[in-house]
Amino acid sequence: MAHAFRAETGQMSLINANDDALAAINHRPVTFLHRLAERAMLDDDHLARLIETAAAAGPEHYNLSLVEEDENGSPRWVQGLLSENGQVDGHRVLDMIRSGRLWLQIEHLADLAPHLHALIVEAYDELTARVKGFSYRNLYCNLLISGPEARVTPHIDAAEVILWHIRGRKRMWLYDPAKFPVPERTVESIILREQLEDISFPDEWNEKGLALDAEPGMALSFPYLWTHSVENLGELNVSLQTEYHHPRSIRRYGALFASGLARRRLGMDPEAADPGSLAESLRAMVGLAAKALHLNRETERQIPAAFVIDETAEGYVRRFAPDAAPVLSK
Ligand SMILES: [Fe+2]
Repeated sequence: MAHAFRAETGQMSLINANDDALAAINHRPVTFLHRLAERAMLDDDHLARLIETAAAAGPEHYNLSLVEEDENGSPRWVQGLLSENGQVDGHRVLDMIRSGRLWLQIEHLADLAPHLHALIVEAYDELTARVKGFSYRNLYCNLLISGPEARVTPHIDAAEVILWHIRGRKRMWLYDPAKFPVPERTVESIILREQLEDISFPDEWNEKGLALDAEPGMALSFPYLWTHSVENLGELNVSLQTEYHHPRSIRRYGALFASGLARRRLGMDPEAADPGSLAESLRAMVGLAAKALHLNRETERQIPAAFVIDETAEGYVRRFAPDAAPVLSK
């Protein structure tokens, strides 16, 4: 049943969904209704202030990206800067995002927007109270503000994801790994942070996945390591994007981390360990210990900033010459 008021905490419920529907979270794609927008109040003035805060905090606190075509006409995801000196007019940035394909992710909400972070924690605590077996660790939250033509190329995230959609409309394509498998080596490389989460994606998979359209007030969740892509449907989009680990996904993450290191450092060719198996648990212990010791550090990715937004440049994008591009540690 849906709860408008939660007796156990005395707070208004943030999630308007049937407990049975929520029980499928972590197992298959799930959509449900939420009330975060009423409390987050992410109108233009609020967004503009948060953009100014993120720009001042510097590029370790945000990702600004767009999809462009490479020399072969394939989509390529490039990252840029909001500003070179940390100063921006938030409303002007919002207008530039509204004009097209820019995609801005404001990170570290616990520091930059603690009111939004607290709201998300409240929603996760409600899920934990209502959904048997649900738990969350390493909660990471960000605010996504993206233009009407923005899109995100097919990729895999290294954590479980719930997208709490607030404004605009977007379509998410989800690819079940049982039908659209990604090589283990590619997933390891993402877990080891050698590459951005983009994967090479066969053309024939395009639009063959499950399409879910997000409307304001809707939340989307899908299982760990599912390939997904996103396209905005002609409006400014605002969402709170959240990532977390469930005990099952921590095990899988640790096992992939260990296999990846064994393959790269020790020249081994480990077989895939089945999810839920003892082999996976043992391998996960090794992988999580290696992760804690930062044994992957020397291969971690360095991303050059390709552009800075600029009102006077074509499409509001001013490119850096390759030898002058600032390097982002992400
Ligand atoms: Fe994603």
